[in-house]
Amino acid sequence: MKPIYLDNAATSHPKPESVYLAVMEALRTGGSAGRGSHTQAVAADHLLFSTRESLAEFFNVESSDRFIFTPNATTAINQALFGLLRPGDRVVTTTVEHNGVNRPLRELQRRGVNVVKVAADAVTGIVTESDLQDACLDQSTRLLVVNHCSNVVGSIQPVTSLGHWCREHDILFMLDGAQSAGSIPVDFKALNVDLFAAPGHKGLLGPQGTGFLYLREGLELAPLIYGGTGAYSHSDKQPELLPERLEAGTFNLPGLTGLHAALKFLQQTGIESIRARETELIEKILNGLGNIESVKLYGADDVMLRTGAISFNVENYDPAEISFILDQQEQISVRAGLHCAPDAHRTIGTYPSGTIRVSPGYFTTESEIDRFLQVIQRLGEINRDGC
Ligand SMILES: Cc1ncc(COP(=O)(O)O)c(C=O)c1O
Repeated sequence: MKPIYLDNAATSHPKPESVYLAVMEALRTGGSAGRGSHTQAVAADHLLFSTRESLAEFFNVESSDRFIFTPNATTAINQALFGLLRPGDRVVTTTVEHNGVNRPLRELQRRGVNVVKVAADAVTGIVTESDLQDACLDQSTRLLVVNHCSNVVGSIQPVTSLGHWCREHDILFMLDGAQSAGSIPVDFKALNVDLFAAPGHKGLLGPQGTGFLYLREGLELAPLIYGGTGAYSHSDKQPELLPERLEAGTFNLPGLTGLHAALKFLQQTGIESIRARETELIEKILNGLGNIESVKLYGADDVMLRTGAISFNVENYDPAEISFILDQQEQISVRAGLHCAPDAHRTIGTYPSGTIRVSPGYFTTESEIDRFLQVIQRLGEINRDGC
């Protein structure tokens, strides 16, 4: 039996072949970016710069030095929130955030930051623009931070004009793009986003250990990490210039080289085609699960309002039981539980046991989904018949 991977919301798999080759090549070539002037170090510098340039092109911004490399989305979010917020600041967010946002905000709240959570719809997991705007209308609001696409129900938040509204009201606008980057078209200029955090290893199809924070021109953050940057070594102060200011320590060059190859793949394939393909797969899963009597599906019915994180439960089963059976008996990988987003589960009424989350990716095939659906159908029937 061929294993079936349906946990792309955790990390995408497989990656494009070019990503594997690029990582291997970088490891074999060696050299540390920004560390030295020998040929290998300069080649590493060049690779790093190319990756930054690819990100700038992919997300439609001019200046690639506004992209700060991080090991994952969590570090990027922490850099943004701890680098920006001070006691007395007010931050508005939603009830469908991942713990990557929830936990830093909880700590900042302890330090005197005022955190306001706007409720998402209990069915769709979507927050309305007007609810977010109403919650922001307080003089001390410094930041609005929104999970662009939910990692529990896939809900795409209506953020197309929020960035412009925030700019008019002198409020910073940040997106947690962990589930949107590489899955739907994201244009930083059009969104007027001030801060955007994303991993390189999910929809962007790069290796684990990669991620970035984008911060718009003119915006400054206090560093989260202090240390060597390769340049300005005469000074014991952190450099002022970006990206060095926020990038202390040796880079994950093999990972970032892999991310560069992944971005090339995404550009060549086209984000619209990727979205179209994933939408077909999401629709197939939603229709298939929707036809199984004992299945309860969560999230919006309209496939255009969602990305590939699909949550469901099967009557009389604990989600962990289904995931265990899928893994152990069928070699199908899905994820069960709270998916690091307890608030989102409270919102949709699935706290504390959570849901089974199935998340296809660009490389998922129809026949893999068919087999997954057959197994769920069978499990649902077994349980109903009490055998
Ligand atoms: C919405 C969301 N935010 C943040 C994260 C954290 O990403 P990472 O594990 O790359 O730090 C995830 C990962 O699942 C996520 O889905």
